[in-house]
This record gives sequence, C-alpha cells and structure tokens, in this order.
Amino acid sequence: MPDGLEVRGLCKRFGGIVVADAIDLAIPPGRILGLIGPNGAGKTSFFNLVAGVVRPDAGRVALDGRDLSGLAAFRRARLGLSRTWQNLRLFASLTVLDNLLIGTRRYPAERLAALLLRPRLVRQSDAAARRRAFEVLERVGLAAFAHSELGRLSFGQQKLVGVARALMNDPRCLLLDEPMAGVEGAAYGSIQSAVRALARDGVAVCVVEHNVAFIRDLCDEGAFMFAGRVLARGSIADLIADPRLTELYFGT
Ligand SMILES: Nc1ncnc2c1ncn2[C@@H]1O[C@H](COP(=O)(O)OP(=O)(O)O)[C@@H](O)[C@H]1O
Ligand SMILES: [Mg+2]
Repeated sequence: MPDGLEVRGLCKRFGGIVVADAIDLAIPPGRILGLIGPNGAGKTSFFNLVAGVVRPDAGRVALDGRDLSGLAAFRRARLGLSRTWQNLRLFASLTVLDNLLIGTRRYPAERLAALLLRPRLVRQSDAAARRRAFEVLERVGLAAFAHSELGRLSFGQQKLVGVARALMNDPRCLLLDEPMAGVEGAAYGSIQSAVRALARDGVAVCVVEHNVAFIRDLCDEGAFMFAGRVLARGSIADLIADPRLTELYFGT
C-alpha cells in the first residue's frame, strides 16, 4: 500500500440510496484533492465512511500503508485521520482553547483511571495538549483569540477553529467538509494558507467545497462525484468546464 490515503472499493447504501458505489480514490502525501459534485452526491458520506463514523458495506481504507478498515473513528483519528464537519460541531459558550482541548480528552473512564493511578502523567499530557493547541492556533492565525468565547468570533474565524481542532492530533490526512460555506472575505486567505502549509508538510488533503474559485485556487486536482460514484478526475478547471458534468451539477 502506498503512503497517503488509499480507498478501495468503498460501498454503502442507505435503504434504496447508494451513497458510495465502489469508490476508489488515492491521495498521496502533500496533495490537495478537491471533491466536487451536487448536493446529495455522497461527499459527506464519503468522509463519514473514511473517518469511520459510518460503517461501509464493503471496501477498505488505508493511511500511510496501514489498514484502518474496521477501526472506530477515534482510533483512526489517533492514527492521523482528521476531519472537519460541514456544520461546525463546536461549543459557542466555551473558549477557543477549550474547544480544541475538549477533543483531546480520552473516554471518561479511561481518564478517571489515569487520574487516580497516574496523576502526574495526566498533568503532563494536559500541558502537552495546551502547547499543541497554541501551536495550531498560531498556525491558523488565531493565537490572539485563544481565551475568547468562540461565539464572539466571526463565522469565518469559527470555521478556522474547526480546522485548528482537526490539526490537534497532527494529522497525516485531513478531510475538510465545506470549509468556506457561509464564510466571507478574510477567512478565505487564512484557510487557504493553513491548508497549503499542511500539504507542504506532507499531509494528504481532501476538500469538499462549492466555492469554485476557492477550490480551483487551492487544489492540485479534482474529483467529480455523482450518485455515490467518482465520475471523473482532472484539474478543477477541466472538471467545471466539462458540459456533461456541469449539467449533472446544476441540472438536478
Ligand atoms: N445516515 C443516513 N441515513 C440515510 N440516508 C442518508 C444518511 N446520510 C446520508 N444519507 C443520504 O445519502 C445521500 C448523500 O448525502 P451526502 O453524503 O450528505 O451528500 P453530499 O455531502 O454530497 O451533499 C443523500 O441522499 C442523503 O440524504
Ligand atoms: Mg455534504
């Protein structure tokens, strides 16, 4: 198995709806792939399947040569598979910092046992998590907002916090689900430069996005998805210029 993300023969149906129809997709380390297609094509389902949130009917997912099939989502995350959510799933009343730290907490029972048995180790890992949180906030340009309540930030900044949270576990593969939806102006450049920096560090990135300018500027390559199938691969410019695909995109 090659390095990066490798998906083979991924299949999933919900009742009569086929959301993944034998999907093969590979993203080498350092590449940014744009996944486009109309609403309902199965893009978010693809992320859920890869991240282990939804169990596939068939198919395999591997990261850097390691088979992740059958592993729970939190295990995949620890092994370097990270994703953001189309709807934020953050906590508006918590600080930016706490929104990042909350994801690093292990299961309560596991944590309680550790607290009782090895309190020093827990304090050390908490300190390490805080250091990591400041590192990723620095990286997305939000260090100054660490102690701000999330709900007071602009929507674009909140989306960036979503990206920052996905960076907490030092991912080898990052799945971004509509990072630009609802975002205006300033966050455009911040999100682009954060994602580019990750790719330079060798992270394999997959971005679902309807903002064509954003995805064309950012991505090395695109894949067009429709009815659970990857119909075409090529540059984003070529995919959106293809009249057959444009009709599928807008025609339904
Ligand atoms: N858990 C689920 N149960 C039933 N149907 C689902 C579920 N998740 C997604 N779907 C359906 O699968 C199809 C693909 O959805 P989705 O993956 O969200 O598409 P996209 O992200 O490309 O808009 C849609 O028809 C959606 O209603
Ligand atoms: Mg979606």
